[in-house]
Amino acid sequence: MQAAIPFTYPGIAEDVARLRELLGLGLRAAAWSPPPAPAILNLACGRADETGVLLAAAAPLARELFYLGIDLRPPEIAEAKARWLPTAPPGWQLEFRAGDASRTDRMQQLPPFNLVFIRHQNYWHDPDTWLVLFRNALGSLKEGGLLVITSYFDREHELAMACLGQCGARKLADLHHPHARPLPDAPKKAVDRRLAVFGPT
Ligand SMILES: C[S@@+](CC[C@H](N)C(=O)[O-])C[C@H]1O[C@@H](n2cnc3c(N)ncnc32)[C@H](O)[C@@H]1O
Repeated sequence: MQAAIPFTYPGIAEDVARLRELLGLGLRAAAWSPPPAPAILNLACGRADETGVLLAAAAPLARELFYLGIDLRPPEIAEAKARWLPTAPPGWQLEFRAGDASRTDRMQQLPPFNLVFIRHQNYWHDPDTWLVLFRNALGSLKEGGLLVITSYFDREHELAMACLGQCGARKLADLHHPHARPLPDAPKKAVDRRLAVFGPT
């Protein structure tokens, strides 16, 4: 991947480096074996700051891949497009779409994915919607595919993991980053504080 345009926000480079480390550990614990041409969905991706490290951790040798980021917010999607689309080498299809991932009918029209990634899931903001997002994420997986979530808060992580368990997902790994960057806007909130990996039952 070519060097990305430096869209810089304080702390982001260190945050995504820690995420790469945590994701690498999680994928190894779940015995992830990257297919030669993986399809990867970044669900509720926001600005998708982690695109580079996600692809480096999950598809280190891929000459071909399909990577799709979806989020409700058009400005974040526009920024993700501007930042990442110019960096894709030949053979890599990167796409970002503004859309509602709770629309199961639309999600079912997507091709199946080897890996679905949800960074900073927001379960307790709207549990009913996130139940649907989690079901759609699991329903988007190819056989043998993995769902990875990260969380800002321990409690929200536990709630999301319980919800995924009720959806029939099988937990393969649950990790805590000891040096996650604390965020000042809420107590016990930290960037990628937890990461869990699930497979379908
Ligand atoms: C806590 S933010 C995390 C954003 C990004 N993954 C990150 O880590 O910076 C949760 C994101 O979920 C997105 N979201 C919430 N409901 C959604 C839906 N129904 N479809 C797509 N995205 C959704 C929001 O727009 C928001 O960007």
